[in-house]
Amino acid sequence: MHTEHPYIHALGHAAFTRFYDPFIRTVIRERAFKERLIDLADVRTGHRVLDVGAGTGTLAILIKQRVPGATVVGLDGDPEIREMARQKIAAAGLDIELRDGFAQKLPFPDDSFDRVVTTLVLHHLSRADKEAAFREMARVLRPDGELHVADVGPPRSAAGQIAAGVMRRFGYVGDNLDGRLPELMRAAGFANVEETSRLTTVLGPLVYLRGKKP
Ligand SMILES: C[S@@+](CC[C@H](N)C(=O)[O-])C[C@H]1O[C@@H](n2cnc3c(N)ncnc32)[C@H](O)[C@@H]1O
Repeated sequence: MHTEHPYIHALGHAAFTRFYDPFIRTVIRERAFKERLIDLADVRTGHRVLDVGAGTGTLAILIKQRVPGATVVGLDGDPEIREMARQKIAAAGLDIELRDGFAQKLPFPDDSFDRVVTTLVLHHLSRADKEAAFREMARVLRPDGELHVADVGPPRSAAGQIAAGVMRRFGYVGDNLDGRLPELMRAAGFANVEETSRLTTVLGPLVYLRGKKP
């Protein structure tokens, strides 16, 4: 894999990828977390939806099951996790396209999606890669299309501050913990950027953010 910055796998190291589903199901109440994003994104029949950093495909599957008339595309840069997603999608008997690619250089034309969704991916990206990813998400959205992000958010409690101090040592989570994602979204051209919801987990708060392509 060739990226400007190190590629961070789903659980930090390629060897752990096969444990991703049981881990995430247990520690963050995955179903409720992802169902809430689908509610907020208001996906409708006829929409084209892109899941950036789709991982093992759980969110893409839930969207397609909820709205069979939507076209759902999942993109991920890790071939091993894409294969896990492919198997889950086949087992569910769903028609979901999986694409190889990086958030910073999306392999899609301008104005080609109604919704872009991305969960637990941005904290894997450096500041420069977050900026590039948001610009790309804006580019591939149609005017009036919406980006829905759910990711690690800034702590609001004393316990959260302590957990954040530990998390800060890993990867590129600092921008998330410092609440910088909304300003990075605005800088990439998104309008009406707002926090739409919040979920408390044992790993700390997860925030839901929405931005509209003008
Ligand atoms: C923590 S997992 C989240 C997976 C899934 N979105 C979820 O919520 O369960 C992060 C995912 O982002 C992918 N990823 C990391 N950097 C990426 C990049 N630059 N472009 C595309 N995918 C990336 C990883 O391969 C991994 O599947």
